[in-house]
Amino acid sequence: MLITGVTGKVGAALAQCLLSKDIPFRAAARNPSHIPQQLSLDDRVDVKELDFSRSHTYKYAFSGISTMFLVVPPDFLDIGSLEEALKAAKECGVQYVLFLSYLGSEKMMYIPHRKIERMLMRMGFQFIFLRTSFFMQNLVTDVKQNHEIYYPSGNGEVSFVDARDVAEAACLSMRRKFRNEVYYLTGKQAFSYAEIARILSDELGYQVTFRNYTKHQFMNRCEQAGLSAKETLLLANLYTSAKNGTLKKVTRDAEKILGRSPTDIREFINDYKSAFHSQMSP
Ligand SMILES: NC(=O)c1ccc[n+]([C@@H]2O[C@H](COP(=O)([O-])OP(=O)(O)OC[C@H]3O[C@@H](n4cnc5c(N)ncnc54)[C@H](OP(=O)(O)O)[C@@H]3O)[C@@H](O)[C@H]2O)c1
Repeated sequence: MLITGVTGKVGAALAQCLLSKDIPFRAAARNPSHIPQQLSLDDRVDVKELDFSRSHTYKYAFSGISTMFLVVPPDFLDIGSLEEALKAAKECGVQYVLFLSYLGSEKMMYIPHRKIERMLMRMGFQFIFLRTSFFMQNLVTDVKQNHEIYYPSGNGEVSFVDARDVAEAACLSMRRKFRNEVYYLTGKQAFSYAEIARILSDELGYQVTFRNYTKHQFMNRCEQAGLSAKETLLLANLYTSAKNGTLKKVTRDAEKILGRSPTDIREFINDYKSAFHSQMSP
């Protein structure tokens, strides 16, 4: 099996999960030297270069593979080259695709996930789509200087899910029969960012404040912080979708796949306490 996005939040945790079960796999990244050393030095891991924008990387990454975990960066809008990559995958014998998609992707047309799902169906892959809510891991970087979270998310609720649970669900799904299924992976509960700020303050012992920005205020502040125009617009759109309730759905799909309750938000914060503290120190 092939794990794409192995340097990312879910891909890296999935790789660890496969190794803990002694399952060999191929790990692909744009720059193989960015793959964590413990993976690249492991005999069970076959490392290859894969960049969806560079067609010369496709053949070596896909040959000999039947099952692929597909991760596409959220701002990857070059659907043409992804289609080329998937055609190459098909020609090389890939049949099963587990795709990391987005909860509410059918309403968020500024990200490519729904189009990619349709493309995978049209191309005749056997698929499992994991449509996931926002990762709890984002919260570590959401808390900015002065212990503030600022988003144009209003009172909109989000059913945050732990990326480690998503990785474990992917690990279990990779070995099941692919029956063209869609799962909605969420946490146990949905929270507004104001509630999240209160829970963070409680658990971390700092006052964390949520600033409910307008889209315009948010984009200005991102610009001042040096974010690119593309990144700013993507974030503004995502958090406006959160405001509109697109990411608030709560399901029991994670529990069904994992055979246990998904990680609770307070448990997550405690597991990542040192990451929060280092992010929040001035
Ligand atoms: N973050 C969330 O809350 C969330 C929620 C639901 C769904 N998702 C979706 O989950 C996926 C992962 O998102 P993330 O935020 O977790 O990002 P991430 O951890 O940064 O992962 C993105 C991965 O994509 C790889 N990548 C970037 N450009 C590539 C290219 N041209 N060709 C091949 N690989 C490339 C990156 O590898 P290198 O940069 O090392 O090459 C990285 O491993 C995205 O599709 C996102 O939309 C995210």
